[in-house]
Amino acid sequence: MTPRVAILLSGRGSNMVALVEATRTGVLAGCCEITGVVSNVPAAPGLARARDLGVSTLALDSRGKGRPAFDAELVAALEPWAPDWLVLAGYMRILGPPVIRRWPGRIVNIHPADTRRHQGLHGYAWAWAQRLPETRITVHRVDEGLDTGPILAQRTVDLRGARDLAEVERRGLLVEHAFYAEVLRDLFIAQQNQP
Ligand code: GRF
Repeated sequence: MTPRVAILLSGRGSNMVALVEATRTGVLAGCCEITGVVSNVPAAPGLARARDLGVSTLALDSRGKGRPAFDAELVAALEPWAPDWLVLAGYMRILGPPVIRRWPGRIVNIHPADTRRHQGLHGYAWAWAQRLPETRITVHRVDEGLDTGPILAQRTVDLRGARDLAEVERRGLLVEHAFYAEVLRDLFIAQQNQP
C-alpha cells in the first residue's frame, strides 16, 4: 500500500511545494500519496500555495490554545485523511504525546542545521552569524523535544563565499528541497520492504 502522508506547516511552504512536486513528477512519484496539508496558522502562505496546487488543506488556529487541547484537535482533524506519516515542513509548534503516540516513529521533520549543534528557530542566521563554512541540513524523526529526535540523514551545504544571510538561506533551501524528498523516498521504500 502506498503510504499516505499529511504535511504540516506554519509558514511559507517552499518545502511543501517541493514535496508535492516530487510526488507528481520527481523522486517521490509512486512512493507516497499526499493526503493533505494542515497548518496551525490559518494565514500561512503555504496553505494558499497548497490550494493552488490542488491539494486538500486544513487550517486549525492554534492561537490561545494549550498544547494538550490543540494536539487533541490536530489528531482528530487528521484522522479522516488516515495518514500513515506526518511530514513537518516548517511547522512551528512542538508536538505533544497525543500526536507522537498516534504516529510513533512516523513523524519526520527537516531542520536547517545540524540538530546536535543548533535547535529551534533561525538555523541559517545561526550559521551566518558564525560565518560557518558549511552547515548541515538534518532530516530527523520527531519526538517530544525540540529538534531532538533520531537523525535519519544529513546533507552538507557549502556556505563559503556567501555574501549575506539571504544567500545562505537560498543555498540551504535549494538543498532542502531536493534532500527532503530523497530521504522520504528512502524511508518509505525501506518501510514497505519490512516484513
Ligand atoms: C525550512 O528552513 C525548514 O528547514 C525549517 O523551516 C523552514 C521552512 O521553510 N524547519 P518553508 O516553509 O518550507 O519554505
